[in-house]
Amino acid sequence: MAAKSSSDQDLLLKQLKAFDESKAGVKGIVDVGIIKVPEIFIHLPIVHSQVTETEFSIPVVDLADAAIGMGRHAEVIDGVRQAAETVGLFQVVNHEIPKRVLDEMLQAMRAFHELLKEVKAEYYSTDIKRKVSFVGSHKLARSSSRHSWRDSLTCDMSSGPLYPQELPEVCRDITLEYSKFAHKLSVRLFKLLSEGLGLKPDHLIGLDCANGHLVAGNYYPPCPEPELTIDSGEHRDVFFLTILLQDNITALQLLYKNQWIDVPPIPGALVVIIGDFLQLISYNRYISDTHRVIAKKEGPRVSVGCFFRYVQQEISAQRVYEPIKELTSKENPPIYRGTTVMDYVTGNFQKGLINGVPGLEYLKV
Ligand code: OGA
Ligand code: NI
Repeated sequence: MAAKSSSDQDLLLKQLKAFDESKAGVKGIVDVGIIKVPEIFIHLPIVHSQVTETEFSIPVVDLADAAIGMGRHAEVIDGVRQAAETVGLFQVVNHEIPKRVLDEMLQAMRAFHELLKEVKAEYYSTDIKRKVSFVGSHKLARSSSRHSWRDSLTCDMSSGPLYPQELPEVCRDITLEYSKFAHKLSVRLFKLLSEGLGLKPDHLIGLDCANGHLVAGNYYPPCPEPELTIDSGEHRDVFFLTILLQDNITALQLLYKNQWIDVPPIPGALVVIIGDFLQLISYNRYISDTHRVIAKKEGPRVSVGCFFRYVQQEISAQRVYEPIKELTSKENPPIYRGTTVMDYVTGNFQKGLINGVPGLEYLKV
């Protein structure tokens, strides 16, 4: 049950400290054979509502022949625009990242998380400035005293040079290869998204939307009591865009018209998620959606998120994002003030977006 008294709180803090100090992540707990979810992972109340029968299904956009001058260009822009305007999350197929690369990426991230805990411990860090870090439980969850049921390896592929040796050897080459492909795909998507807004294809790229990204390899161990915890709490992605690669276990859900909808794994497809910063600059034309990952008895589940953002450590403090001028007018003046990615992320963590309040609300003038 949820701890209430101050001694319960102390106990919880002790457990959190011990968990951090173990440097073994959630997998470390599962490996010792627990049958109950430890207190620090219990989130109540969680409504793991059954996914409702609905006509709605997650849009799938076929990117084949989407290049300018190719036959389906206008149709693809339309598919992307509609999905980004109405749902904020969609899947893409024929995205030009070879299936071999996707499979190897998932396998390599799984292999990292299944290394001996002593080896992973070298990477263990909760310092968000570290370029490569392994965290037990997700950083986002750290604004609350409860942890989520997942381990992550985050690799910042952009803030200053990342030397290949900084990446763990088991996933080094494929992370570099996947990261290049994902960047290329993001450029295609930002072009389509720009055109969907009636802007020149390079508009969003010109705003550095694709100029930096983070690769996060998530590992969701099987959970003995999935009804008590959450793998990744209800949240919105804060950056411009996320490209998510998931394995074949269904656990990601989207909140759509107040109902949780499964995002079904489609072999070879990638999930695209609009983040808060794209909602901000597109001035609410594109929407940042709410999603979560539910805990499961089956697993482990592996996913790899590629988060596109603009964080060059020296200059990010100055780059202010605000609604694109062309999308506002006298009749429709901007309702958001501008912000930097760094300021937003910091404020966002403190303001508990994760618990329901969209971070963009704090930017309203
Ligand atoms: C995220 C996220 C989903 C998943 O990392 O922001 O929503 O399936 N991940 O891992
Ligand atoms: Ni997310």
